[in-house]
Amino acid sequence: MTQLQNEALWTSKWRCPSNIALVKYWGKRDFQKPMNQSLSFVLQNSFTEMSVELFKEGDQKVEFYFEGLSHPFGERIESYLAQLSVRIQWIEDYNFRIHSRNSFPHSAGIASSASSFGALALCLAELHFAISGKEPDTPDLWRKASELARLGSGSACRSIYPGFSIWGKAQLFEVCSDEYATPLYEGINPVFYTLRDAILIVDSGVKAVSSTIGHMLMNEHVYQPSRIAQAHQNLNELYLSLLTGNKESFVEVVESEALSLHALMMTSRPSYMLLKPNTLELISRIRAYREKTKIPVCFTLDAGPNIHLLYFKKNELEVRAFIEEELLDFCENRQWIDDRIGKGPERIIT
Ligand code: DP6
Repeated sequence: MTQLQNEALWTSKWRCPSNIALVKYWGKRDFQKPMNQSLSFVLQNSFTEMSVELFKEGDQKVEFYFEGLSHPFGERIESYLAQLSVRIQWIEDYNFRIHSRNSFPHSAGIASSASSFGALALCLAELHFAISGKEPDTPDLWRKASELARLGSGSACRSIYPGFSIWGKAQLFEVCSDEYATPLYEGINPVFYTLRDAILIVDSGVKAVSSTIGHMLMNEHVYQPSRIAQAHQNLNELYLSLLTGNKESFVEVVESEALSLHALMMTSRPSYMLLKPNTLELISRIRAYREKTKIPVCFTLDAGPNIHLLYFKKNELEVRAFIEEELLDFCENRQWIDDRIGKGPERIIT
């Protein structure tokens, strides 16, 4: 193997955030298309930074470094690029050197595929526009990046825009597509741009069942039709809460979605469970706190045991005291990530 030495012919570098779904994508159709619509917001502090350099020299298609060291994720990128080369011809003409790092620790049990594929797709979309001589910084570039991200990991397509995004076709939102996410730029009540997300790390271990398998189990799931109907209804209700600033219905829909996702796992054939005893302890404490204080806090979950505790800036002081005093004892090594709704990806000028 000869390592690439010379100056790259083309370079692109992006920072892309992770996102958290409020209405969950669970189950696929065709190739990387969602079984139902989903809605999420991007985070501010949990992100991936990635640079992609293109060379004509060398004999290795992809050199991939994670935090400076060569890493097996490079193999996934290599097969992703091989797939893409059918649609994007120039991919075949170059060898790739890719450097990546995450802002969150390895051991946090946070899925990094959304921010990683988001960052990679932004680099590829920018390079695509540059190599084909197209205008950069147009809505087309973002749409292309979202589509390319989706082909790597479904949820990644929602990491491309600031604030809230929807992915998947539905009756109510004609502009939305299964191919890429659409940003919700207009009409959101400003209070929702003050959302905070405390990611409470219950368990940082590798999950017993991957999301790939989880999505697959939806194909034959007995609740598939009712799940699709529920997701549509929850999305409509949530969207209305976002427009009207209704925190009460926001809380209700967000928790219902999180528990539905895990209920689908528990009722798959074969069935499985990713929640841990401490996840349940935290859920009941969050609900009791909300009941007692009337402060609008709620939880959501990814496909794993960690809790995303959502609250508003207005209640920051009280909720942080609650986290410190009542929740951290149930987290692995008292670990948590202090995050919030974010401003979206950034191009990094080198
Ligand atoms: C539970 O996007 O990780 O986080 O498309 O196979 O890469 P792939 O799956 P992935 O699934 C994420 C599912 C989820 C819900 C969500 O983010 O909407």
